[in-house]
Amino acid sequence: MRLRDTLTPSQPVSNTRNFAGRTEVLNTLIRSIEDQRLHTVLFGERGIGKTSLLHVMTQLAEDAQYLVRYVSCGEETDFNSLVHSIAESIPLLYHADYDPTDAEIEEGKSIASLLPSSMVSANQLCDVFARLSGTRLLIVLDEFDRSPHGAFRRSIAELIKNLSDRSIRVQFVIAGVASNLDELIEHIPSIRRNIIGLRVPPMNAEEARELLSIGEDASGMTFQDQAVDLVTVIANGSPYLVSLIGQHAAMHAIDRDAREIEASDVAEAVRLAVEEIEQRITEKTVKSVDRIFAKGSGVDLGTLACVAMSKGGRLETQPNGEFSDKALENKRIITETAAPANLVAPVGDPADGTYEFCEEGAPAYIWMRLSQSQFEQNSSPTAKPMVMIG
Ligand SMILES: Nc1ncnc2c1ncn2[C@@H]1O[C@H](COP(=O)(O)OP(=O)(O)OP(=O)(O)O)[C@@H](O)[C@H]1O
Ligand SMILES: [Mg+2]
Repeated sequence: MRLRDTLTPSQPVSNTRNFAGRTEVLNTLIRSIEDQRLHTVLFGERGIGKTSLLHVMTQLAEDAQYLVRYVSCGEETDFNSLVHSIAESIPLLYHADYDPTDAEIEEGKSIASLLPSSMVSANQLCDVFARLSGTRLLIVLDEFDRSPHGAFRRSIAELIKNLSDRSIRVQFVIAGVASNLDELIEHIPSIRRNIIGLRVPPMNAEEARELLSIGEDASGMTFQDQAVDLVTVIANGSPYLVSLIGQHAAMHAIDRDAREIEASDVAEAVRLAVEEIEQRITEKTVKSVDRIFAKGSGVDLGTLACVAMSKGGRLETQPNGEFSDKALENKRIITETAAPANLVAPVGDPADGTYEFCEEGAPAYIWMRLSQSQFEQNSSPTAKPMVMIG
């Protein structure tokens, strides 16, 4: 139970106790907010840890007396309801024109009472935000890639522009995908100076080790060094996979009445993780991957998936300086294996030679399939890296 509470692959981490590593990106995020007063777009692949980072940042910001309002976007998110619900959660006490003894404050009114009840423009909202005092407001918009295209995103860009031009103490932290940053800038090119994009990078080996140690400390179990190395190589920078494989491996050790987690537990964990991830992949992709593995091209496809996981989902095929060999290898695998199976497609202008997997979860799935097949071929798994890229 303690393990399940600390290694939570199906839920973002919500407190600093269970949060591993990420010091650099967290520090950069805090510096951008505090020192540079910028609005931030945090981007990275599924499961890389954006929401967890936002939760921990929220905790730190609240400790530093910021007001933080967190919103998880969806297809239905609409600008007017969003700003009203945020305004309703901010007591009038924080408005410079009101005194703590005023009747409105005693009645528990919020700054929403100063906004028109119908459509609110970025300007009207900024007039109210400009009078916030005694605090700074952070508006966190998570899952921005799921928000509606068009009007909603344009309104957010307008609001960011207005807030920046008037040096108002309200900042946005937006989590989504890389193209969200381009899109906001496309709406209003001049916000380029007010907004910064921060990529959440793959976790390094040390951070993965730290994540597993959190599980060890909570449960009193230990991961043998060989098991840690295997989990780290197989997770390939994804905290989701470290957490998932770590949890399954530990549960398997418990099933054998052991307190030490060994390589064989990791092998079983990978088998279970493949089954679990497969549920979230379309049947079409699973069948294509099955065929490719049956034909003996699993290592090639797995190698490509591994590159995609470490490069924010993007696959470059144009020879470019020191990465020429890798780009040519990507191109070969795409042309011979992945493109004929419709697993990858060009991004943007095909002439640029940049590809991505058509299905978001495919790279992690394929990479785990390769790990599984390598365990099956090698009945006594060793911590020797299997396919090492880069
Ligand atoms: N720094 C961390 N320490 C410990 N666990 C982490 C960390 N970052 C992420 N995780 C684990 O990885 C999983 C995925 O993290 P999270 O949900 O934060 O990613 P995400 O980028 O928001 O994913 P999505 O794009 O699907 O919203 C979570 O289950 C969480 O437990
Ligand atoms: Mg998330």
